[in-house]
Amino acid sequence: AHLWRGVVEEYRDRLPMLGDAPAVTLGEGGTPLVRARALSEHTGCEVWLKCEGVNPTGSFKDRGMTAAMTAAAAAGAKVVICASTGNTSASAAAYATAAGMKCAVLVPDGKIAMGKLAQAIAHGAELLQVDGNFDDCLTVARKLADAYPVELVNSVNPARIEGQKTAAFEVVDVLGDAPDIHCLPVGNAGNITAYWRGYREYEADGPASKTPKMWGFQAAGAAPIVLGHPVDHPETVATAIRIGNPASWSQAIEARDSSGGRIDAVDDPAILAAHRWLSAREGVFVEPGSAASVAGLLQTHAAGELAPGQTVVCTVTGHGLKDPQWALKNADGEDVQPTRIQVDVVSIASALGLA
Ligand code: F0G
Repeated sequence: AHLWRGVVEEYRDRLPMLGDAPAVTLGEGGTPLVRARALSEHTGCEVWLKCEGVNPTGSFKDRGMTAAMTAAAAAGAKVVICASTGNTSASAAAYATAAGMKCAVLVPDGKIAMGKLAQAIAHGAELLQVDGNFDDCLTVARKLADAYPVELVNSVNPARIEGQKTAAFEVVDVLGDAPDIHCLPVGNAGNITAYWRGYREYEADGPASKTPKMWGFQAAGAAPIVLGHPVDHPETVATAIRIGNPASWSQAIEARDSSGGRIDAVDDPAILAAHRWLSAREGVFVEPGSAASVAGLLQTHAAGELAPGQTVVCTVTGHGLKDPQWALKNADGEDVQPTRIQVDVVSIASALGLA
């Protein structure tokens, strides 16, 4: 049996910037590519879900964090900092602990999913809630890292994108070639940048015969790339991608245009409907931000702009347990209450319609 060693060791020959630095790893990567039965049936395409919620801290950020923390440790860093809508801070906190470093995280006030906040605290990060949004947090984190001896581990750190490109390698390694279309949620736009780099490298070096069209989806209330200008007050239930001025904006445009892809907006009801579809019809529980990829696929299909017969991969970026409150509401937004019942076989059988 092959023991998965984490993405730095598994793909070290494709991560030249890390040289032979000892890996800081929690065993990330090697995540399942799950065939989406209901989505495939509905669209007439072969739809797959790259389930990044299965990573050690429950999101794709761990791929970038193992690389960033490996580089930081090799450079002798003692303190790392990041701005985050939640997942980056959870991942940075865990990997800093594994590396024996201190970690400080800047998060927007009151807009972080509870699970993510709990992770940062559990791993002992210095948690600073900033009176501002994610974009404000990132601006100040960059200034701090310029002026003080702390390592910035946001996706503007080049090692982050390098680590995250390994997800594209895994897709090709499993499918045998690149898909026709790859759908992603877009927030700060690091991940779409990373996948595009990974796919291009695999095509250039042989493992893939082609690159996919990159389809990115922003939340409608936080869709600067779609609108063509920054959004000062981004708003969406998908707090992970509540970002008004993405750091990798131009790279996302490049991925879209050179792949012949698209970057569109999906509104909150569409995001929540996709969230419900994934859990109720595919068996995959994700956080709302992750469902933007599937919301976008469904929306494009509904518009008649998805030709059947194609292979499509949707990355679902983070685990549903990060932000479980959305599962506890029905399609009308009402709280779901369990049926109360006596400890009695006949009553239960009758409640289940068995008797
Ligand atoms: N999905 C989830 C679950 C995320 O947490 C993020 C980003 C994205 C998608 C978007 O990826 O930024 O590379 O375009 N979360 C960051 C954070 C911003 O701070 O955790 P992106």
